[in-house]
Amino acid sequence: MDPRCTMGLWRFLFVVVFFLLPDAVPLKIKAYFNETADLPCPFTNSQNLSMSELVVFWQNQEMSVLYELYLGKEKPDNVNRKYMGRTSFDWENWTLRLHNIQIKDQGSYQCFIHHKKPKGMILIYQMNSDLSVLANFSQPEIIEISNVTENLYRNLTCSSIQGYPEPKKMSFWLKTENSTTLYDGVMQKSQDNVTELYNVSISLSVSLPDVTSNMTIICVLQTEPMKTELFSSPFYIDPKDPQLEPPDYTVGIAIAITLTLAIGILPILGYIRWRKKKKKQPGISNERETIKMERGESEQTKKRVKMHVPERSDEEFQYVVNSLEITSGDKSATHF
Ligand SMILES: *[C@@H]1O[C@H](CO)[C@@H](O)[C@H](O)[C@H]1NC(C)=O
Ligand SMILES: *[C@@H]1O[C@H](CO)[C@@H](O)[C@H](O)[C@H]1NC(C)=O
Ligand SMILES: *[C@@H]1O[C@H](CO)[C@@H](O)[C@H](O)[C@H]1NC(C)=O
Ligand SMILES: *[C@@H]1O[C@H](CO)[C@@H](O)[C@H](O)[C@H]1NC(C)=O
Ligand SMILES: *[C@@H]1O[C@H](CO)[C@@H](O)[C@H](O)[C@H]1NC(C)=O
Ligand SMILES: *[C@@H]1O[C@H](CO)[C@@H](O)[C@H](O)[C@H]1NC(C)=O
Ligand SMILES: *[C@@H]1O[C@H](CO)[C@@H](O)[C@H](O)[C@H]1NC(C)=O
Ligand SMILES: *[C@@H]1O[C@H](CO)[C@@H](O)[C@H](O)[C@H]1NC(C)=O
Ligand SMILES: *[C@@H]1O[C@H](CO)[C@@H](O)[C@H](O)[C@H]1NC(C)=O
Ligand SMILES: *[C@@H]1O[C@H](CO)[C@@H](O)[C@H](O)[C@H]1NC(C)=O
Repeated sequence: MDPRCTMGLWRFLFVVVFFLLPDAVPLKIKAYFNETADLPCPFTNSQNLSMSELVVFWQNQEMSVLYELYLGKEKPDNVNRKYMGRTSFDWENWTLRLHNIQIKDQGSYQCFIHHKKPKGMILIYQMNSDLSVLANFSQPEIIEISNVTENLYRNLTCSSIQGYPEPKKMSFWLKTENSTTLYDGVMQKSQDNVTELYNVSISLSVSLPDVTSNMTIICVLQTEPMKTELFSSPFYIDPKDPQLEPPDYTVGIAIAITLTLAIGILPILGYIRWRKKKKKQPGISNERETIKMERGESEQTKKRVKMHVPERSDEEFQYVVNSLEITSGDKSATHF
């Protein structure tokens, strides 16, 4: 027997055994969202068949055709609308490139090569592949949910967006000079109903009286399936930060408001009074104005900034600003 013929037979058997079995192990393929997936059909043309004898096509698990090459010519007739304009065939290595990958494109694909003979079509090659789609989550970002009235806690949210698949774990690392505490947050997820990408976030409330030394907070997202970790930029809490000392903070705001009023309103009031007096008592044009600031008791929940503008006529302008609300005795803090 001609050894070349035997080899041909072996090749044929190989093809039959490994590629024509319906449960042949499919090739695992990964592609990034919005990018291109390569769906291979690694056919070795041992018989040196011409393209004009072959019918090559790819179909998805619903048997919708992605692309067809009929006797050497592209044939769009059978191609499903959703794949129109999204494919290109690489003649060099028998690979179909599927562009603009979406999460919905996940699933299995098959390529078929038939030899068209006068008697009919003979399947000579088949390849199955499983496509999974990935989208890299953005770098996690810690932002502070600031509330001017809040000074017992620093509330932080860490979020990462537009990734796939769904991650399993998101945590905060709280580092002080001597310790690192791990805080596994309850991950909030939202999935876009068009792109199917996920946004995730976790929240943390740091009780300020517990912060006695500089604290560095880092947020970590563990993504699937490779379990890679994405780290946020560090967020620092310094207990010496003047913002964290309520009295200074209060006084600071009170002074700021008083100054704003003094600069913005007094000249106007002064002008009005000057006009009045000019009518009644011509000749008096100068007057002294004093600003006095009072602070409320610390137990009060509301503090008022009063501004007195003494007048020669003893009429009093009073400006009341409900500026600060200090919650006291709130024990609902989350300690960790
Ligand atoms: C997809 O890619 C296009 C072009 O490369 C880009 O403009 C677009 O923002 C991308 N979309 C997403 C959701 O990444
Ligand atoms: C394959 O066939 C082409 C013509 O169809 C020929 O030019 C080429 O030499 C052949 N190659 C082999 C390896 O037989
Ligand atoms: C096929 O060839 C192209 C370049 O011509 C390359 O980008 C691609 O990765 C190849 N695909 C496979 C499956 O080898
Ligand atoms: C996604 O992340 C991986 C690993 O971090 C990187 O190799 C790859 O280039 C990224 N891909 C995109 C599309 O950003
Ligand atoms: C700030 O806190 C007050 C009182 O706790 C609350 O009514 C208000 O909605 C909060 N504002 C924001 C932006 O969270
Ligand atoms: C950290 O440890 C050192 C040495 O044990 C100690 O002197 C220091 O006070 C500690 N710092 C804090 C914030 O507990
Ligand atoms: C995810 O975050 C992006 C950017 O903040 C936003 O545009 C998009 O609507 C969010 N998607 C969901 C499902 O929340
Ligand atoms: C996506 O969800 C929003 C709100 O849940 C809904 O109004 C919208 O119709 C949905 N879009 C699609 C394409 O399902
Ligand atoms: C805490 O951080 C501040 C700067 O944010 C720095 O000046 C100070 O020395 C730090 N204190 C300690 C104990 O590391
Ligand atoms: C911050 O967290 C504390 C404790 O969970 C909560 O009582 C407070 O309302 C939160 N403040 C804001 C602005 O979300």
